[in-house]
Amino acid sequence: MPHRERYLFVCTNRRDEKDPRGSCAAKGSEDVVKGLKAALVARGAMKVVRACSSSCLDLCEEGIAIVQEPDHVAYANVTLADVEELADAVVAGTVVARLVAHPKASG
Ligand code: FES
Repeated sequence: MPHRERYLFVCTNRRDEKDPRGSCAAKGSEDVVKGLKAALVARGAMKVVRACSSSCLDLCEEGIAIVQEPDHVAYANVTLADVEELADAVVAGTVVARLVAHPKASG
């Protein structure tokens, strides 16, 4: 499989429920990955965009966290309800501004 044009790295890190940092898996990120994969298949975009599970992205308190590359944009507080909009954006080569926690640093 060739290198894709874009990637969505979805944190699926899981911590103990007592850990104050929380974790994305505990908030449902595994279902978000599945939803994104299905949404990309539905758009015929599997050869240009890949959704992957990731370890911690250091946005734990703001999880569910996703990083979109090569745009280098971090999404936070993502829910399953955001999956279709995220898929539309990544296929179009854009971002979902309302979910952006940390835009690409300029310079
Ligand atoms: S646990 Fe998901 S960003 Fe840290």
